[in-house]
Amino acid sequence: MAKTGENKLKILMCTSEAVPFAKTGGLADAVSSLSLALASLGHEVRIVMPRYYAVDRDRLKKLEGAMGVPMAGGEEWCAIYTAELPGGQTGAKPVQTYFIDHEGFFGRDGVYGNAAEPDFLDNPRRFAFFCKACFQLCRKIGWYPDILHAHDWPAALVPVFLRHGEKYRAHSTSSSFSEQNESFEKTVSVLTIHNLGYQGIYSKDSFFCTGLGWDVFYQAGFDDWNMMNYLKAGIISADRINTVSPNYAKETLSQEGGFRLDGPLRDRGEAYSGILNGIDTEVWNPATDTYIPAPYSAENMKGKARAKKALQKYFGLPESTKVPVVGMISRLAEQKGIGDLFGPSFGSAFSFCVNMDLQFVLLGSGEAWAEHEITNLAGRLANFKAEIGYSEELSHLIEAGSDFFLMPSRYEPCGLNQMYSLAYGTIPIVRNTGGLSDTVQNYNQKTGEGTGFMFDYLSPNSIYDTIGWAVWAWYNKKKDIDAMRLRGMTQDFSWNKSALQYAELYRKAY
Ligand code: ADP
Ligand code: GLC
Repeated sequence: MAKTGENKLKILMCTSEAVPFAKTGGLADAVSSLSLALASLGHEVRIVMPRYYAVDRDRLKKLEGAMGVPMAGGEEWCAIYTAELPGGQTGAKPVQTYFIDHEGFFGRDGVYGNAAEPDFLDNPRRFAFFCKACFQLCRKIGWYPDILHAHDWPAALVPVFLRHGEKYRAHSTSSSFSEQNESFEKTVSVLTIHNLGYQGIYSKDSFFCTGLGWDVFYQAGFDDWNMMNYLKAGIISADRINTVSPNYAKETLSQEGGFRLDGPLRDRGEAYSGILNGIDTEVWNPATDTYIPAPYSAENMKGKARAKKALQKYFGLPESTKVPVVGMISRLAEQKGIGDLFGPSFGSAFSFCVNMDLQFVLLGSGEAWAEHEITNLAGRLANFKAEIGYSEELSHLIEAGSDFFLMPSRYEPCGLNQMYSLAYGTIPIVRNTGGLSDTVQNYNQKTGEGTGFMFDYLSPNSIYDTIGWAVWAWYNKKKDIDAMRLRGMTQDFSWNKSALQYAELYRKAY
């Protein structure tokens, strides 16, 4: 058995994203901070991910020799680079990160696609290769994990390969490191679903690139209405599956929230659960944040007022303390409720900006129509400012400088920004869904309790009404607003609790 010591596990995180190396969304934050939190509990955690073009090779160390990865129709050769993910949370050990370097698959701009090709045509092959390479990496470095922890559809073939081949293969002639194959015998797999809306569904003509037989296509549950579904096969093959909040786990078991995978998830019974993400409290902490003009905390909020002024100045808005600033940072995708906010002719943003005494600032990028509508709207309204693009620095200033944070998500597996907001004394205005329901408590006008403003049904009207409610409270219930801010700031959103729950999940699987 490959255990590192009493109760300590060897864990390999297989992922397409991890900060600070590559990020398109919260997956990257979650994987890195979970890894560091598990490492600080004493587990031996390593990460493996592709070496995309944007990951500078000069900052990595190359392992000696090339690595062969058996693929349908032969072997693909790649190089392995490595770097340490610096210990972020207090007491965390650095986490060794490996990069699979293959020019043909990853030597291009974009993680999953680019403007011209939003979903690269060869994605089924790119990520089948990556998942196979995870096993070859272990052989190359002679390190066999107890737990193979796969994240989302790009890594979902890891549990499939483990169950249908790698675990049982005694000797293989196609691998350069074949003599150690049996070392995955005791390994188990965990699949974390960060977003059920992305499943890796492709034509089954691409199934050949997995190198698996057609019997496995059906046994492992790849079949999906005459297509091939990577995430579905991962759900059926993994020893344990979880998603990133308890409430989202429940929602995905229903037909409405299951994205057609509610059946396979229900079939997994007790093996499927929800564990709430944490946040990296070293990166997202107003008392230590170097991106904001002055630090602040629940005990001394002066720095928040300075951040608000700086934010207003950045966007050229009147620097008034009286008017509330509503902030938003988002991938501009349908998941985030952007249709009801910015949809041409019916979106609510135009009306609430015109009718309410507020300032609205947005940072985001994504769907072209939304970028266009937002730019257009910002050109017409004096109190709506937007930056289309991606900026780590500005995202910190928006979190600190806003009074409210808007997240009208259609669905939200966990959501990180509402937790950043709570930590920064910025009151979330959110839809009552997924992880947002697990992390925000609705304002009770009678008692003054709560940490945010919530609505149930997504529509332009309910966004409008809830923003109206928050703005009303801002002008009329100042004491409640101040108490809500402080309540949010004193909650614990660190990874400690969640990392313990993952350790428990591993133990159940192992
Ligand atoms: P999702 O992963 O669905 O996009 P999350 O709330 O889990 O949603 O995580 C989103 C992460 O990406 C947060 O860390 C957020 O601050 C960040 N983010 C999203 N868009 C931008 C942007 N345009 N600039 C900077 N950070 C962004
Ligand atoms: C996904 C989800 C988001 C979650 C993140 C990290 O991108 O959309 O809700 O917070 O993954 O788990």
